[in-house]
Amino acid sequence: MLNGKRILLIITGGIAAYKSLDLIRRLRDAGAAVTPVMTRSAAEFVTPLSVSSLAGQAVHQDLFDLTQESEIGHIQLSRSADLIVVAPATADIMAKAAQGHANDLATTVLLATDTPVLMVPAMNVRMWDHPATQRNVSLLQQDGVAFVGPDVGGMACGEFGAGRMSEPAEILAAIAAHFGPKPLAGRRVLVTSGPTHEPIDPVRYIANRSSGAQGAAIATALRDLGADVIFVTGPADAPTPQGVTEISVETAAQMMAAVLDHLPVDAAVFAAAVADWRVENASSHKVKKVAGALPELSLTENPDILAQVSQLQTGRPDLVVGFAAETNDVIENAKAKRQRKGCDWIVANDVSPETGIMGGSENQVSLITGAGVTPWPRLSKTETGQKLAQSIADHFNTAEPR
Ligand code: C5P
Repeated sequence: MLNGKRILLIITGGIAAYKSLDLIRRLRDAGAAVTPVMTRSAAEFVTPLSVSSLAGQAVHQDLFDLTQESEIGHIQLSRSADLIVVAPATADIMAKAAQGHANDLATTVLLATDTPVLMVPAMNVRMWDHPATQRNVSLLQQDGVAFVGPDVGGMACGEFGAGRMSEPAEILAAIAAHFGPKPLAGRRVLVTSGPTHEPIDPVRYIANRSSGAQGAAIATALRDLGADVIFVTGPADAPTPQGVTEISVETAAQMMAAVLDHLPVDAAVFAAAVADWRVENASSHKVKKVAGALPELSLTENPDILAQVSQLQTGRPDLVVGFAAETNDVIENAKAKRQRKGCDWIVANDVSPETGIMGGSENQVSLITGAGVTPWPRLSKTETGQKLAQSIADHFNTAEPR
């Protein structure tokens, strides 16, 4: 998969550095050569001996190491790779790289290089959310740096949130995608994701349990195949992938407007769990609790975004993909939904509580097209997203029947 590729892996000082050992092993198994660079603080977390043993190469640590400079100067080091991967990338290295500091080997390599850079952030959720870090991420993106993650989850410090380093398998997939073909280059694809929130009053709302994980995985995979991705997301737990155009909305009506605003597109994937109803008489002020008296909420139907876009007379995307989350008669219900809504494909999944799919990290779906039903194996949401993105790419490349 990565035969002959040269990866310069910069390991910086974070507890997630232990995952980089596994990453090195996977990279080498995939055929890549790994040249490791470690910062001083990285060596507090993993030993240079472990890193060099796994990489099969000496670790570069010092900017002013005479032996190493005479063998391979830091400028040459920075350019002798096909890709530079920074994993884990601490808030500190991101800040330094964003500002162009060059006060150790890692930062000097990043400043001197003309090689593409992929960063894999890992830090405490507050550090990740801090405006300074977010500013640095956006500066680095403007400079062409690509990112994988961070994931949402529990952290070594006991807190929970965005900031966990992506798993080695996911990093490897992103590296493979970097070198892989870009069959969707030049294609614009819109993805809806996450739940919607329908206000009852300024502080209360109706919502659902969608995490947005599957939608984010689909957007990531489409991006990796070269698509220009418009990501219209409700208030989701899963972070928006880097390198897509994010349009944040709250309600179904806002999602509808945002989708129409961003047409035309080549393909649209409606993975959002849109609320079916909204409160017609939502209050503009907080409804007071009055003992013994319940507020009267009157519900009205939300626009069906998938159906409306599928049935557009002009400007309909070439390929419209909907989802059907069902708890019984999954395939029959999904087939009927495909007909009723007028979309081209339906991704059908069983979300009965015993499947653990809703809110979990795996999915088991069937793809329903005009040509029939194809059951896919139980896969991670990342892999399900990749398989769907590949099917979309195949559709455009072979113009298979919809
Ligand atoms: O009708 P149901 O909600 O089961 O259909 C699911 C599919 O329709 C999903 O693809 C979802 O994103 C889409 N949908 C929509 N707008 C709605 C309701 C569902 O786009 N108001």
